[in-house]
Amino acid sequence: MRITAAPFQADKSPSWLIADLRSDHAGELGAVMIYTGILAVSRDGAVREFAREHLHTEQQHLELMESVLPSSLRSKAQLPWRAAGWLIGALPALIGEHWVYATIEAVETFVDEHYSEQINRLKSETSNDSLRGMLEACRADEIAHMHDAAARRRGTPSLALTLWLKTVRWGSKAAVVVARTL
Ligand SMILES: [Fe+2]
Ligand SMILES: [Fe+2]
Repeated sequence: MRITAAPFQADKSPSWLIADLRSDHAGELGAVMIYTGILAVSRDGAVREFAREHLHTEQQHLELMESVLPSSLRSKAQLPWRAAGWLIGALPALIGEHWVYATIEAVETFVDEHYSEQINRLKSETSNDSLRGMLEACRADEIAHMHDAAARRRGTPSLALTLWLKTVRWGSKAAVVVARTL
């Protein structure tokens, strides 16, 4: 189901909320690039179908964030977010489907937590129910992506894959910190 953009007045919003949305916009841009990176590399039919479906949703999320957050308030580091996202998709796709699904499960788990924190703060500190509803709808899509990836993943991750997943998680955390301010 298509999510509706929430009415949002940036000039009447607290700086923490602008920072939250800046990180969301950067994250959705990164998500679009992750699936674009997978599609640029993978020749596996099931992986490509998986990536195409998820990409369609992430493009809608990015459009939502673009409609809420004016370009003047978005992260200035668009190129690094694009490059990092593409690599997080393309590198596992070079290795194989197991790496792709494990990476997506890790990324979407992180995004679920990221949106949850924001939703909780919106609940306690503002009365912006429409924005909260929009983020809740995006979060529900990310959880569906996480479950989809988890259901396709097989076996126990190797040491190399475990290190990669930790790197992706650490990198995602660092990216949120940077995107909130830059
Ligand atoms: Fe998304
Ligand atoms: Fe997602």
